[in-house]
Amino acid sequence: MSSYNSEYAVEVNSITKVFRRLSSHTTLKKAFIDLITFNRNKQVKMLKFTALKDVNFNIKRGETFGIIGPNGAGKSTLLKILCGIMRPTSGKVAINGSLSALLELGTGFHPELTGRENILINGLILGLSKKEIVSKYDEIIEFSGIKDFIDEPIKTYSSGMAVRLSFSVAVNVNPDILILDEVLAVGDAEFQTKSKKRIEEYINSGKTVLLVSHDKTAILNYCTEALLLYKGTVLTKGKTEDVVDRYEEVESVS
Ligand SMILES: Nc1ncnc2c1ncn2[C@@H]1O[C@H](COP(=O)(O)OP(=O)(O)O)[C@@H](O)[C@H]1O
Ligand SMILES: [Mg+2]
Repeated sequence: MSSYNSEYAVEVNSITKVFRRLSSHTTLKKAFIDLITFNRNKQVKMLKFTALKDVNFNIKRGETFGIIGPNGAGKSTLLKILCGIMRPTSGKVAINGSLSALLELGTGFHPELTGRENILINGLILGLSKKEIVSKYDEIIEFSGIKDFIDEPIKTYSSGMAVRLSFSVAVNVNPDILILDEVLAVGDAEFQTKSKKRIEEYINSGKTVLLVSHDKTAILNYCTEALLLYKGTVLTKGKTEDVVDRYEEVESVS
């Protein structure tokens, strides 16, 4: 299904994701006791929750595509599936090119390892060779602005520092497709200006960007096309302005 000749960088075909979770009457303690006592009359009840329901869309090569929707709509779940961190319950995804993603806070970092070691691991996961990553160290560290702490374990970083480092890795490995989850408001004003500039350079260089946000301004500023995700369903997709208008309608009734 994946093809480098495709006019699309990302193809999402009928993705559904069902989570199972403990019912509110079931405590973890009960579940644990059932488990260790081999209790056949299990009190443990699992509830099914459909976080994504038959989601379909394609992103053209070189396009900046937006996904907008309120908290809990399923945006991050969808991105995790695109990045291969999570499997869909059904449906198919094709990613045609190298992909780098900046997901929610902290995803992908090992707390015990230093910033520098994490850069290496993240780069390797993204498919770069050790030599390529080492050649980008200076640029990545410089951009992150946390040079003095780069050889300290990540667990000693503030969340802001960790995000700056993961942003820096994501944009500096120069992938074909860049995925950004709610990250335009990362760091202080200076870092925000710097990261916006870098994203703009990236967009202008003809790469594919997927921007996910509950913030209309960011989506309107950068994206030509977008889709509105609401309770796991695509309510509408198309021109960004139209999608944002619909989002405002949805917001006003909910
Ligand atoms: N691992 C999980 N197990 C169970 N439910 C989950 C899991 N991850 C997300 N959810 C639920 O799926 C829904 C969508 O979450 P998410 O994708 O994070 O939304 P968004 O990023 O749009 O705010 C939420 O109701 C959330 O509680
Ligand atoms: Mg999210």
